[in-house]
Amino acid sequence: NAESTTLHSADIGIIGGSGLYEFEGLKDVQKVTLNTPYGAPSDPLVLGKLGDRSVAFLARHGAGHRIAPSDIPARANLYALKYLGVQEVISVGAVGSLRGDIAPGDIVILDQLIDHTRGTRPASFFGDGLVAHVSLADPYCGRVRSTLGRAAAREHPAVHEPGTYCCIEGPQFSTRAESELYRSWGMDVIGMTALPEARLAREAELCYAGLALVTDYDCWHPGHDAVDARSVAEVMASNVDAAQRIVRRYVEQSQPGPCPCHRALDNALLTDSQLVSGA
Ligand code: ADE
Repeated sequence: NAESTTLHSADIGIIGGSGLYEFEGLKDVQKVTLNTPYGAPSDPLVLGKLGDRSVAFLARHGAGHRIAPSDIPARANLYALKYLGVQEVISVGAVGSLRGDIAPGDIVILDQLIDHTRGTRPASFFGDGLVAHVSLADPYCGRVRSTLGRAAAREHPAVHEPGTYCCIEGPQFSTRAESELYRSWGMDVIGMTALPEARLAREAELCYAGLALVTDYDCWHPGHDAVDARSVAEVMASNVDAAQRIVRRYVEQSQPGPCPCHRALDNALLTDSQLVSGA
């Protein structure tokens, strides 16, 4: 409604994954409960100031981690961020490593994605008579990624950049054969939540960057037990401070500015307007 448009706005959205349910250090905090044409977001959005930038934080899995990856209301989440005026989204998430040189505790700044979900998650704002095809060639914003990478390198000793994320449906972890298959494809990390978030961010003309916190070696590593949810939560808990420091530093150092991401729909719409009356 009109009141929330004027009272609530933010420049930068932060979507927190497993283990990151609130963001410390925000000033002038306001909690905003929004409803969208796609239903309610995962949780109320927490708006606040970091220095002179305003940010909106959203817990992807909701309070108490009640929303499974396949049930995340991604369209509502991205719609809510867009509605608040957000221009850039930093997506934080737990991932497994598919490479020997990326260890639990490390951080990966993502640049590519493979969609290995089952295709049942609503993944577009278009359809229903309105056809658009945005480019997803580079799903992560290069401009935000380079600033985020510099911020990460200042705050953490083991940052890898770039990295390709294989998004599986879950909620089960992969079989050993699947894990080996993804490795043979050259994937770097594996998770369950980057999609359809990245697709929707592009359609919403938002810059989107991925900060992946490595929690495990999935199940392929002969020297490590197969991943389980408890160990993911434990490693995340020990890394969430670093993630917050990186995002805070990113927010301090980032400059708002024009970006091709903000023009993603320029050449994307195919549906004709219909001439209803007139010459
Ligand atoms: N999230 C954290 N570790 C994961 C793994 N090994 N597979 C899928 N999602 C994950």
